[in-house]
Amino acid sequence: MKSRLLLALALGLAWNTLLAADTNAPATPYILTPAAPATPRINGANVFGVRPGSPFLYTIAATGDRPMKFSARNLPRGLKLDAKTGQITGMLKSQGEFIVTLGAKNSLGAAGKIFRIVCGDQIALTPPMGWNSWNCFAHAVSADRVKRAADAMVKSGLINHGWTYINVDDYWENHRSSKDPTLTGPFRDAKGFIVPNVRFPDMKGLADYVHGLGLKIGLYSSPGPWTCGGCAGSWQHEQQDAQTYAKWGFDYLKYDWCSYGDVVSGLVTNVMKVKSSGTPHKTGDEAIHPYQLMGKFLREQKRDIVFSLCQYGMDDVWKWGGSVNGNCWRTTGDIIDLWATTDHKWQGSVTSIGFSQDAAAPFAKPGNWNDPDMLVVGEVGWGKTHPSRLTPDEQYTHISLWCLLAAPLLIGCDMEKFDDFTLNLLSNDEVLAIDQDALGKGATCVINHGDVRIYEKELEDGGRAVGFFNLGAMPVELKFNEFSRLGLAGKQNARDLWRQKDVVAVDTAKDSLPLTIPAHGVLLYKFTAAK
Ligand code: GLA
Repeated sequence: MKSRLLLALALGLAWNTLLAADTNAPATPYILTPAAPATPRINGANVFGVRPGSPFLYTIAATGDRPMKFSARNLPRGLKLDAKTGQITGMLKSQGEFIVTLGAKNSLGAAGKIFRIVCGDQIALTPPMGWNSWNCFAHAVSADRVKRAADAMVKSGLINHGWTYINVDDYWENHRSSKDPTLTGPFRDAKGFIVPNVRFPDMKGLADYVHGLGLKIGLYSSPGPWTCGGCAGSWQHEQQDAQTYAKWGFDYLKYDWCSYGDVVSGLVTNVMKVKSSGTPHKTGDEAIHPYQLMGKFLREQKRDIVFSLCQYGMDDVWKWGGSVNGNCWRTTGDIIDLWATTDHKWQGSVTSIGFSQDAAAPFAKPGNWNDPDMLVVGEVGWGKTHPSRLTPDEQYTHISLWCLLAAPLLIGCDMEKFDDFTLNLLSNDEVLAIDQDALGKGATCVINHGDVRIYEKELEDGGRAVGFFNLGAMPVELKFNEFSRLGLAGKQNARDLWRQKDVVAVDTAKDSLPLTIPAHGVLLYKFTAAK
């Protein structure tokens, strides 16, 4: 009892009561996401951006028993729907905004959804959702593994929740010094076009395969001569590379600073002597230039290629990333699957990265996303995988926070090794809807008391998503009544998004909301003004 009181006093809060609860959070995985109904439900963002003249591919994400029949009313001229797969393809010639009614029907029922197609300058109107090879396969990636990841995205059902991109990270190119025969070969052909390593014998075929599943595909390079892993980068071949990616049919490019710092420092008299990774950092035009260049060349392609800047937040990238055609930008060093870190220079933990994004948050908007790095749930491990070292509650924190921050959601695990817990963590449509909200706001920390952090994000429908986080090692109970600090007034309905359950209707003038937040855990609520 004494310790409970101490905690309450130490925090010195304006809550009515604040007590440490008796029980510890379960360390064994526990699933909160309710099973999706067998009747159809259409998920995913309610807006999609495309440029005039670019190939269009959008797969209607819907849960429910198959077979399903899809429909799309008021589809603009130039687009067509495959009623069996839900894939919308084609091309729009000119700018415009189109309101379409999507439908999905199976033997048990039907569902509909209003969907906005915006044909204009901007793409990635909601944060990209997908998978990236780095956090699981790292240097051991291959076309075969990428295809299997795409298959797993479909088989696991994640495609039905809006997950789209299958991104190849480093090591699809040949390596500067590796003895591995599958990484050894020419960097470029006689005309200077990039040559993939033998693990990737047919890049166009790979892209076609992924597109055939209704998914999209991404690639990785560096503005320097070498990627961070020491493979061939795009330096002095930027235009050719942009053309090549478009020709192959890629939809996403992660462009990683790596050896470029040495280029700016004038150290390229001998390319083989240029270091691969990470140094030195630059500011101003020196930091911006390489991204401007590739951004321009990507924009010249007749294909929508999401441009993802990876330079670890250098020179406050969130202030200028949009101006170089960037769609997302890493704000930090590399993430690892730990709750906290103390001894890593360039790596960050879920808390050190996730809870330090406030400066960048106001710069998030449709087409421009802050990227606190990829997800570290499931089987991760950079070439030698293990189950994420985060506890279940830490993983709920991780996903909730990334969704509140409107971060790109890139699964980093081996998707062939999904367990039920991880799959459920990644398929809660009400949680994902917070990330995919069309208003495009990034949450900031509104209340910070002791171990408690309360993050809030404004939503398009006028509601607010609120994450009540507990960074402490003990569960926290509180009676929350500081609604005015969250800008909430009058009567509000509170819904628990992980459980997909209405919790209570509160009169913000006089009621308080009882909350129990697990150790290192979260309650993710949506508040909507009561009618
Ligand atoms: C850097 C990036 C990682 C990954 C590796 C590849 O470390 O931050 O996400 O792309 O390079 O070498």
